[in-house]
Amino acid sequence: MGARARQRLVVVSNRLPFVFKRGPGGRWRTERGSGGLVSALLPVLRDRGGSWIGWPGTAETGPDLDAAVAAAGGDVGFALRPVTLDARQVGDYYYGFSNEIIWPLFHDLQSLCNFEPAYWGAYKEVNRKYAKAALAASRAGDFIWVHDYHLMNVAAELRALGCRARVGFFLHIPFPSPDIYFNLPWRLTLLHALLQYDLVGFQTLRDRRNFIQCLRLLMDDVSVQGKGQVVSVTAGRRTMRIGNFPISIDYNAFMRQAAADEVAQRAQELHRMLPKRKLILGVDRLDYTKGIPHRLKAFRTALERYPKLRERISLIQVVVPSRVDIPQYRELKSRIEQLVGEINGNFVRPGGWVPVWYVFGSLSRTDLLAYYRAADIALITPFKDGMNLVAKEYCACSIEEECVLILSEFAGAAAQLQRGALLVNPYDIEGVADTIHRAFTMSDEERRSRMRRLRRSIRDSDIFWWVDSFLRAAIAKDLSAFPLPEKHVSEAVADYVPI
Ligand code: UDP
Ligand code: G6P
Repeated sequence: MGARARQRLVVVSNRLPFVFKRGPGGRWRTERGSGGLVSALLPVLRDRGGSWIGWPGTAETGPDLDAAVAAAGGDVGFALRPVTLDARQVGDYYYGFSNEIIWPLFHDLQSLCNFEPAYWGAYKEVNRKYAKAALAASRAGDFIWVHDYHLMNVAAELRALGCRARVGFFLHIPFPSPDIYFNLPWRLTLLHALLQYDLVGFQTLRDRRNFIQCLRLLMDDVSVQGKGQVVSVTAGRRTMRIGNFPISIDYNAFMRQAAADEVAQRAQELHRMLPKRKLILGVDRLDYTKGIPHRLKAFRTALERYPKLRERISLIQVVVPSRVDIPQYRELKSRIEQLVGEINGNFVRPGGWVPVWYVFGSLSRTDLLAYYRAADIALITPFKDGMNLVAKEYCACSIEEECVLILSEFAGAAAQLQRGALLVNPYDIEGVADTIHRAFTMSDEERRSRMRRLRRSIRDSDIFWWVDSFLRAAIAKDLSAFPLPEKHVSEAVADYVPI
């Protein structure tokens, strides 16, 4: 660990961990960015130090913004280095190429893609901007670690700028199979760009296999050496490494914070407001990959099929605003709200039970933890998800170990959590409804043994294990000397194959 601990970490991601917004008096306010990337990387940077390069979430520039960014960095204990984007770049690179092409395509939703040619130019231009910022912020011996689908071209740009530092990349979202990936007009250029990294990390073995298959089908001379968690790939004259590293959470911090009095009181308040029933919880960014309308329909079907559940169960659905400038996201919000209205209209009892408790907004940490603690069942049913950290956070907060996790088999987390969770196909509305009933009626003993297993697995492979595995894989001389400790291999690396 000695040499690694001294090596400075330069993290590059589309966003900084905070979004900067002007408050009522014109002063800058900071809000925590939403989503799994920020949740996962904040504890890593807090623990190791280093610098984080990213967009502050505003098109404005100026000394007062610089001061606000520097102050936020001072508070968290690492340097924040803003990359500013103008309105066109935000439109074409962030909303356009990243979120209207790569996001839907990599989540197997190619029918939602808008393959607008102008987006690609903006993507390259902005990736070059991030590469220049990374070069300016790093010195010899630093490790530059680029994150997620917005920035796949950064290593290629860094190499073009003469950078010889070690550069790693982690993809937080899934990597699609060749059938899907081949739709991308820039498919070959992007593969070449990814090969410029020294190490590319995926969430699951399946993502890694998909990537290697795409390489094999689109390029000549591809060979793979090794069989372990990290392999070496040679394509033409380029040799680099590829591995799968399931991302995780700061398990101990969640567990500790969930036990705080303030959180316990809030959780009790929730039970007082929604008395004499079990609570089911869904927490998702507003995103069409999360399967929220199907989930609501499954909940409605459960109430129809199992009348005994009526008045004895409520669904709390939290939807965190996200990418609201994209029409599909706005439409999704209306669809969700319409369904919530219909379900509540059909089943509500005057002066009493409300079946769906719907919250649209970002939660404070205390509220999020209180929801996790109050909920008897978590219902997490994405159509496709890189990992899904909400599932892991929920288990970490289940300190009484009495709760049930219902999880989509298409979430990356299913590979690791399949033995403790109740896995469902999110498209199977009746199957999900039956699973809600099963979770509701599960014996105390089964709930405890499943939750214990889930928590053990998440605790053993927490976010610090993840960062260590990735950095070790980037610098290890000999990959055969890089197996994961045995306890992780069995659960974290095995892939879940739906029957
Ligand atoms: N989260 C958030 N704001 C909220 C509620 C939740 O940022 O108001 C966090 C949550 O704690 C989790 C992350 O958002 O860490 C969601 O990550 P996940 O991997 O489940 O999905 P993603 O949003 O990255 O697709
Ligand atoms: C997912 C992506 C992240 C992204 C987050 C929030 O977790 O993998 O890269 O930051 O969603 O989305 P946003 O577009 O608001 O950054």
